[in-house]
Amino acid sequence: VRSYHANLGAGISALVQREHDDPTPGAREVVVRVHASCLNRRETMIVVDGYYPLPIRRDVVPLSDGAGEVVAIGPGVTRVKIGDRVAGAVFAHWIDGPFDYGNAAQLGGSLDGMLTEYAVLDEAALVHIPDHLSFQEAATLPCAAVTAWNALTGARPLKAGETVLTLGTGGVSLFALQFAKMFGAQVIATTSNDNKANALRALGADHVVNYRASPEWYSAVREFTGGRGVDHIIEVGGPGTLEQSIKSAAAEAAISLVGWLARPVSGFDVRLLSAGVYTLRRIALGNRAQFEAMNRAVSVHRARPVIDRVFSFDEAREAFQYFLNHNTIGKVVIAHG
Ligand SMILES: NC(=O)c1ccc[n+]([C@@H]2O[C@H](COP(=O)([O-])OP(=O)(O)OC[C@H]3O[C@@H](n4cnc5c(N)ncnc54)[C@H](OP(=O)(O)O)[C@@H]3O)[C@@H](O)[C@H]2O)c1
Repeated sequence: VRSYHANLGAGISALVQREHDDPTPGAREVVVRVHASCLNRRETMIVVDGYYPLPIRRDVVPLSDGAGEVVAIGPGVTRVKIGDRVAGAVFAHWIDGPFDYGNAAQLGGSLDGMLTEYAVLDEAALVHIPDHLSFQEAATLPCAAVTAWNALTGARPLKAGETVLTLGTGGVSLFALQFAKMFGAQVIATTSNDNKANALRALGADHVVNYRASPEWYSAVREFTGGRGVDHIIEVGGPGTLEQSIKSAAAEAAISLVGWLARPVSGFDVRLLSAGVYTLRRIALGNRAQFEAMNRAVSVHRARPVIDRVFSFDEAREAFQYFLNHNTIGKVVIAHG
């Protein structure tokens, strides 16, 4: 059995493969043959940047995201049976309800993750994946899709006819676009180039703004909404985009503070926080119940995640390198064979 191991900030070249004995499940544990895993920005924060807001264990098996098949169950397991198609919830112990730091253990963080041929997971962390999705497609769901789902449904559920603003073409943003269309919302998306703008339109974006050509893009957003502004903002840029997001917000909008992709701006003017009337909510990914609810919606709508490129298990380092360049449209997946 082969697994990759990583250390915080040690870099892609320090990602090493090791051989292990065949795993045996303990009480309430399940062995999953991982067929595919998937990259998120969290992985390059952990492996390359050496910064992540939650603890990372030494020599961790990286990657929060993966999907596979149950091949062995330990004593007392009732939630799954051999042959079931499953993924792991990233917060393996956060089942339902509000976020709690007591349940903050993450796969590929303080717990071993999915860049392995066989993962041993607590049965409580498992979620059945939608039947119409391949393992590679389902491997894209645990982090980015659940985060987008939580942002749109967790506090102020999106309503038909409302307008959602997504930033860029990263994993979270593309899922937010797809979910927003499922909910009957209008979507305005920003991106860096025309190629990506076309891809966003093909996925259903009603209006696309190039944030490089229009650094003051909030005015295009307001114009498209007849001056009203947008109801939900999936804020993945951080302080580098927050000013534009606040100026894009309709009265009583929900701004979900998801990430920090845009270059840090020096001297973010905190007075801008009062440039609108909105709720700012910091998102902590999501829980298992949200993952399950999302899968029901994905199944009903037969939604398909967007995959940019698939690498083999032996090419995991190349996959990281490819993902680092930010030029993907869709998820970078690793096929475990
Ligand atoms: N809080 C949470 O629970 C949580 C969960 C998941 C992710 N996150 C965070 O959310 C962010 C998104 O994660 P991800 O995995 O979706 O990222 P990702 O897939 O790595 O996103 C890459 C994309 O970001 C876009 N981007 C880069 N700079 C931008 C800017 N200045 N403005 C707008 N878009 C920009 C680019 O698209 P364009 O070229 O089209 O602009 C790029 O292709 C990350 O910061 C991640 O750490 C947080």
